[in-house]
Amino acid sequence: MSFCFNFDLPAQKAQADEEDGTGEKNEEKSRAALPTENKMKPSEPVKEATEHFPPSDPHVLMDAISETVTIGTLPPLHFLNETVFEKTASDREDCEKILSRTAEQRSDLISGVYEGGLKVWECTYDLLEVIEKDGETFGGKTVLDLGCGAGLLGILALKRGAKQVHFQDYNSTVIEQLTVPNVMLNCQEDDEDSEDDKEGEKQREDVFKKKAKGKEEEEDGNPPMKKRATDLSQNLLLNRCQFFSGDWSTFLTLVLKKNPSLKYNIILTSETIYNTAYYPVLHETLHQLLAPDGLIYLATKSHYFGVGGGLHLFETFVEERGIFSLSHLWDGEEGLQRHVVVLRIKKPKDT
Ligand SMILES: C[S@@+](CC[C@H](N)C(=O)[O-])C[C@H]1O[C@@H](n2cnc3c(N)ncnc32)[C@H](O)[C@@H]1O
Repeated sequence: MSFCFNFDLPAQKAQADEEDGTGEKNEEKSRAALPTENKMKPSEPVKEATEHFPPSDPHVLMDAISETVTIGTLPPLHFLNETVFEKTASDREDCEKILSRTAEQRSDLISGVYEGGLKVWECTYDLLEVIEKDGETFGGKTVLDLGCGAGLLGILALKRGAKQVHFQDYNSTVIEQLTVPNVMLNCQEDDEDSEDDKEGEKQREDVFKKKAKGKEEEEDGNPPMKKRATDLSQNLLLNRCQFFSGDWSTFLTLVLKKNPSLKYNIILTSETIYNTAYYPVLHETLHQLLAPDGLIYLATKSHYFGVGGGLHLFETFVEERGIFSLSHLWDGEEGLQRHVVVLRIKKPKDT
């Protein structure tokens, strides 16, 4: 089944540009429509935050079909194969009913119901590449993967030595069915390594090593790997992770209730600024949870056609609030423009 990316199709950009005369004018129009608190707010009730715990029974991974992304010198990141995940969606328990709704509506986003976490979005790969070049090591740091979806960014932080990693996604189905299994896959590998199962790992790496962007097909035609289940209850990496679902406003309340002094050294967030209606709560969450000398890595497209948000509007919003400074780490030039930026809390001398 192929899904419709209902807000980032280049065809939609062409159409929008045509209607407005030029892309530049179109951007002007977007700037004029600066975010307001209620614009595009979903009619659904605010989704309450919940903490989720990895299952004690590792058999959820027994027949898992996974794939691997390897970027430069970064550790390989394993995650459930998206095609297999889609095909087996009807076998899964899903209290939110997002698996059936996204399939019916052939949509990657249903505002306020499903916020897109079931697939890996391309800006995630941009951020992984920037981290690879930038040399961020995460050692001993407290990290949040905000709007994590599959969780690849948080998994990288975990594998690179973060002290603690929190994963947050809007949908509980995403956290339970995708994020947690993906983290477990990577922790399981860690256990296997420590059991000196290096030979098996090497074989898997040889078979499944793929560059992120060309990962759809196995080069040698071999089927994706199945993981064997190992008890992860004592796993050191898994014990450093916490998982949360829910709206950002309720997530903020929940984590601060659990730990009023919680501050993250690093917040990683990819493709989360597409809806201007969420900017106030997103900004507040980032502001409340970032350590004074912390960093927010944000990967995003310039504009999300059909939804309205994007980097230009977010930059204007951030500037108006006056809390963060924002600098560009990487600007892609091809096709629909993509960016990686970093935000820091302004020091008094910056203001
Ligand atoms: C397009 S997905 C991106 C997923 C992932 N970061 C990636 O790059 O593959 C956007 C994510 O933002 C999060 N999100 C969007 N709006 C949210 C909101 N109002 N409250 C909480 N999370 C939200 C959802 O968890 C969703 O998975």
